[in-house]
Amino acid sequence: MNHKPKALITGASSGIGAAFARDLAERGYDLILVARRADRLKDLADQLKEQHGTASTIAPVDLNLPNMPRKLAEALKARGQYVEMLVNNAGYSLPGHLLDQDWEQHRDFLQIMVNAPIELSWHLLPTMLERGRGNIINVASVAGLIPGTAGHTLYSAAKAFMIKFSQSLALEYRDQGIHTCAVCPGFTWSEFHDVNGSRALMNKMPKWMWLDSDRVAREGIDAVLKGKVVQVSGLQYKAIHAITKLLPERLLLRMIARRSAQFRVQSA
Ligand SMILES: NC(=O)c1ccc[n+]([C@@H]2O[C@H](COP(=O)([O-])OP(=O)(O)OC[C@H]3O[C@@H](n4cnc5c(N)ncnc54)[C@H](OP(=O)(O)O)[C@@H]3O)[C@@H](O)[C@H]2O)c1
Repeated sequence: MNHKPKALITGASSGIGAAFARDLAERGYDLILVARRADRLKDLADQLKEQHGTASTIAPVDLNLPNMPRKLAEALKARGQYVEMLVNNAGYSLPGHLLDQDWEQHRDFLQIMVNAPIELSWHLLPTMLERGRGNIINVASVAGLIPGTAGHTLYSAAKAFMIKFSQSLALEYRDQGIHTCAVCPGFTWSEFHDVNGSRALMNKMPKWMWLDSDRVAREGIDAVLKGKVVQVSGLQYKAIHAITKLLPERLLLRMIARRSAQFRVQSA
């Protein structure tokens, strides 16, 4: 009988999600790896089996398809697999201003960034409660903690939503053994900026602003296990966050507007 705890990670095929998988495997979890690219998930599962003896279930699914979180939860239940650690990580950003994208693209974006993580939590939480323990990590962003920017319009709004959602969930269920944490990285090396087409622009950002995915994952897991509700990744972003909290909102908005305009000129 296998008594290893199980972790489900969405967006495990690259970047921060793959880092969560590696770290959790090292900590003795078996894994359920979710993303669209099956070959990537299989390579990761093989590697973790060899390194740590991890048993991984691969779920190559598109979280954008109707009811996919429910179908995933039902499939796990049918196999008697109970998730003790849920990492809602899958995500991307849509460049441009609100009207630069079709509505369907915004709708799909909100499905991945907001609806799917909440729906997965809704389906997996009852079993966590029955067993009296569970951890939910929602990968948010520093962008959700500071005022919105021009461009990538719904990104910071979706991340702010996930931070508030995490805070509510933490308050509602912490007395029943469930820890929830919003992990908030700043710029992190991954495929994120290749997918959204901003790599060339991002290469101009100073080196000190970049985090590595392994560090984001390690600090995030430590945080949820300690019962922390909002975790800002990296000392540099903790400092930026602390400073932004001290600045008057009007000044902060002016600074962000100036920075957004610079980016628009550079990327034009
Ligand atoms: N990188 C940063 O600077 C940064 C900063 C703050 C927060 N974040 C957040 O960190 C999280 C992970 O991003 P990352 O930086 O690791 O980027 P990434 O390397 O591009 O990884 C994104 C992951 O999401 C998965 N995904 C995207 N759409 C999906 C869909 N429809 N169905 C299932 N899986 C889907 C991708 O897998 P497939 O393509 O195989 O489906 C991939 O595994 C995101 O929520 C992002 O917003 C990133």
